[in-house]
Amino acid sequence: MYTVHDTHIIELPKKIDPRGNLSFLESEHQVPFQMERVYWIYDVPGGQIRGGHAFKEQLEFIVVLSGSLDIIVFDGEEEKRYALNRSYYGLYIPNGIWRRMENFSTNSLVICMASTAYNPNDYIRDEVEFLDYRNGRTNNNNSRL
Ligand code: TYD
Repeated sequence: MYTVHDTHIIELPKKIDPRGNLSFLESEHQVPFQMERVYWIYDVPGGQIRGGHAFKEQLEFIVVLSGSLDIIVFDGEEEKRYALNRSYYGLYIPNGIWRRMENFSTNSLVICMASTAYNPNDYIRDEVEFLDYRNGRTNNNNSRL
């Protein structure tokens, strides 16, 4: 299982240009997996928290294109906070890591590249279930009894 130490910031190429800067990313290059889906989060009202969950399979690469926000990752034991405010930094999060986003600035825009198509069954939304998952226990496992 991955830990928060497997999450990391990847600096994206930055083409500095007096006409305006340009950054980019490609599957298997800057993004260390094959991308299957892209989604983005915007118009977040002040004080909101999003994405309090983990994925069993999905890998993610998150870029804060505009504004700033914090992404907190948790592996069941350790927590790490990334304050993101540059459009040329991406945060890689492997599967099995709980993550949430908070402290969205006004007009922040965050884009998430995912390794899988949307699958609600890939989500772990309950923290107790997440801790069980991390500890190798499932809801149907009687070994705790
Ligand atoms: P969700 O991932 O649950 O967001 P958060 O954890 O931040 O609340 O997604 C919110 C809603 O959007 C949920 O109904 C599922 C839907 N959704 C899709 O249909 N496709 C997607 O790719 C994503 C990311 C979400």
